[in-house]
Amino acid sequence: MQTALKDVLPDQDVPYYQSTSNEQQLFETAWQQHLPLLLKGPTGCGKTRFVSHMAAKLGVPLYTVSCHDDLTAADLTGRYLIKGGETVWVDGPLTRAVRHGGICYLDEVVEARKDVTVVLHPLTDDRRLLPLDRTGELLEAPANFMLVVSYNPGYQNLLKQLKPSTRQRFLAVEFDFPDAETEKAVIMRETGIDVERAALLVRIAGNIRKLTGIDLEEAVSTRLLVYCATLLMANVAFDDAINAAIIEPLSDDADIKAGLREAIGIIRG
Ligand SMILES: Nc1ncnc2c1ncn2[C@@H]1O[C@H](COP(=O)(O)OP(=O)(O)OP(=O)(O)O)[C@@H](O)[C@H]1O
Ligand SMILES: [Mg+2]
Repeated sequence: MQTALKDVLPDQDVPYYQSTSNEQQLFETAWQQHLPLLLKGPTGCGKTRFVSHMAAKLGVPLYTVSCHDDLTAADLTGRYLIKGGETVWVDGPLTRAVRHGGICYLDEVVEARKDVTVVLHPLTDDRRLLPLDRTGELLEAPANFMLVVSYNPGYQNLLKQLKPSTRQRFLAVEFDFPDAETEKAVIMRETGIDVERAALLVRIAGNIRKLTGIDLEEAVSTRLLVYCATLLMANVAFDDAINAAIIEPLSDDADIKAGLREAIGIIRG
């Protein structure tokens, strides 16, 4: 089965990423020391952007795989395909990163099938080996190979958790929404919006994130603030932008949406 994979080749331009803590130093150290890295945090807080930024900064190819519940080990390692009447082995993204060097990034890794851990284990301890049973190869990861995985602990259920024996093979960094100044800078840089409106969006987000007693699965993300600022920059009216980029994506429940509108109204004054 064809999986959702995206190969991002080395980019001349390093994608913009605003640091929020010591995550860049940690990433670079993990890279130098050949240690795998796990990123956890809520949706839209900059995990994917961070990995693209670091890969570009280090000048290595990035192989991103969005994991889903049908993703098998073969989707990562590769498979035999029939081409022109012949059977040929085609490397999967993980194998390509191990064979040629680069960063393999497994997004939402908890979603993947259990057999994926079987290929990850020998690769993420000091052996750094990728056995390809189908071809009989045993690949040793080069110095410029790194495995990065991420997931959102907020959505986790008991059935979908990384086993301790998997988690404990990774250095781990927790991501969260940036502080107000950083988030304002991100929104301005991403959309070109003025400082006043960026500050207002950040205040709105801060307030929604603090709301207690409101049943939101996840609070408003930096991504949604960027969307909202994008609409404002395209001259969409403020209330319409808030509605389309913040309220509707956060909830389907009429009472919750009314509560959010009210809270936002109070902040706007
Ligand atoms: N620290 C940051 N620096 C630059 N941009 C950021 C930062 N944090 C968030 N963003 C903005 O938010 C958007 C969403 O970030 P990203 O896609 O990296 O989130 P994510 O954590 O990978 O979310 P998900 O878990 O849903 O995949 C980015 O496209 C970017 O515009
Ligand atoms: Mg992501």
